[in-house]
Amino acid sequence: MIKISSLVAVTAYTLILTTGAFAAGSHIEIPRNEWSFSGISGQYDKAQLQRGFQIYREACSSCHSLNRIAFRNLAQKGGPEFPEEELKVLASEYEVDALPNEDGEVKKRSAVLSDRFPPLYANEKEARSIHNGALPPDLSVIAKARGTAYVGPWYWHPFAMFADIFNGYQEGGSDYIAALLTGYDEPPETMEISEGMNYNKYYPGHQIAMANPFAGGNNQVEYQSAMIPSTVKQYAKDVAAFLSWASDPTLNQRKQTGWQVLVYLLITGVLLYIAKRRIWASVKH
Ligand code: HEC
Repeated sequence: MIKISSLVAVTAYTLILTTGAFAAGSHIEIPRNEWSFSGISGQYDKAQLQRGFQIYREACSSCHSLNRIAFRNLAQKGGPEFPEEELKVLASEYEVDALPNEDGEVKKRSAVLSDRFPPLYANEKEARSIHNGALPPDLSVIAKARGTAYVGPWYWHPFAMFADIFNGYQEGGSDYIAALLTGYDEPPETMEISEGMNYNKYYPGHQIAMANPFAGGNNQVEYQSAMIPSTVKQYAKDVAAFLSWASDPTLNQRKQTGWQVLVYLLITGVLLYIAKRRIWASVKH
């Protein structure tokens, strides 16, 4: 009896939750992409992360900081793995605060590998005053700070959730960033866009203060490899992959360790089973 009533309670609770989410209604469907790092075994593609960093540098770094990433991180295993020599040169192009000198003055020095990317703005007010009142967020953990919401019939929601758990779906932030960067378009005629704002299909409310960073269209950024298409879609995917790494830099190692643990447990399980059979073989029952 108790079991049935708790089952009813759980079902009712799920229904209320999912219907509530559905009634909220304004969610936008974000297309899902194929990522090299998706699912329970996917890993980052080093070349893609390197291209993504190039895009960040050329198309985003004028407005968005990357405060939590140190130059040396870009050389670490499981990341873009740039050679250290290249990164030393890159770091030296940035300026950071030196330690205070004897008179207490803080001078600038050029950055070294252990420094993080310097902040772009002195404070939030400065950032807002430069960008018409809007604040370009720091991009270090943006892929974790954004995600996608379920759109679809309410009764299907629990199944979609289980499918995502089963597939290990965790690329909501990556999909959102890739969509946002390709979502600029002409606004529908019925919609009036405020001054300084831009229409974007995938931004909540459809009006975003960020102008299209890829307004130059395809070929805006020149890739070194001719094998990779120089298209806005590709730029968006590559920079989304790079930002996903920035917000989860140990994904490769974590997934690898996960598989090793599973294999270890499997072997241990088999050994324990054999041992159990041997120990109990002589006991009559
Ligand atoms: C000219 C300045 C500028 C450039 C260049 C720029 N952005 Fe932005 N970005 C902004 C501003 C301003 C906002 C805040 C938008 C708002 O609040 O409406 C923003 C917001 C964002 C957001 C958050 C959106 C959300 O859901 O809140 C993301 C993600 C983002 N930018 C990514 C990028 C990426 C990736 C690039 C490079 C390809 C880039 N931006 C280039 C100015 C810029």
